Amino acid sequence: MAVQIAPSILSADFARLADEAAAVAGVADWLHVDVMDNHFVPNLTLGAPVVAALHKAAALPLDCHLMIDNPDRWAVKYAEVGAGNVTFHAEAAADVVQTARSIRAAGARAGLAVKPGTDVESYLDVLGEFDMLLVMTVEPGFGGQEFLAAMLPKVARARKYLRDTGLPLWIQVDGGVTEATIEECARAGADVFVAGSAVYGAHDPAAAVSALRHRATVFAAEAQGSGR
Ligand code: DX5
Ligand code: ZN
Repeated sequence: MAVQIAPSILSADFARLADEAAAVAGVADWLHVDVMDNHFVPNLTLGAPVVAALHKAAALPLDCHLMIDNPDRWAVKYAEVGAGNVTFHAEAAADVVQTARSIRAAGARAGLAVKPGTDVESYLDVLGEFDMLLVMTVEPGFGGQEFLAAMLPKVARARKYLRDTGLPLWIQVDGGVTEATIEECARAGADVFVAGSAVYGAHDPAAAVSALRHRATVFAAEAQGSGR
């Protein structure tokens, strides 16, 4: 389980997205791009044209987190414009399997996201269609919210299921991930960490990514060594 860090540009300067992406190139693994439609969540950000432009301008692969209604219709578009991963919400999709298959067929990794109130147990049988599970650790919609530690058992249950079944999914956590909370996420079994304000709110975003990776790596290694 290699630790991966995905800075969220939701907390970046939207007028300077290429520069903000460059600020973490070489230290981060992914650039996390939050797509919000003001329907699935009460906030509005950007869509496929901006993702296409970022794909051309940024060195890092793009991790698109779709917080939109009807991902069945729209998710594939983000794969087509160059996203390396497209995650959509279980709560918003009519057919999660078909949507995952269309993302993969377009050449991207497929992610399934669950809001804090959504059980992961209902989706265990379809996880084989996915490359990543995103366990939200805040209510989706805004950066800078307080981490919900109550989501950690969900991460741990998902990790146990993946270990038991041998499915190779990554587990991503998103929301309130900071130097103070990343350790408990890693201990619970997360291996991909989204951080918005903890990276772009920092004086030195690249140093913030390195600090997050360091803290997560120590605990992920511990968890592996102890067979957890
Ligand atoms: C929230 C978004 C997050 C957000 C996280 O709905 O999905 O990616 O940028 O921001 P922080 O890390 O500040 O909680
Ligand atoms: Zn996100």
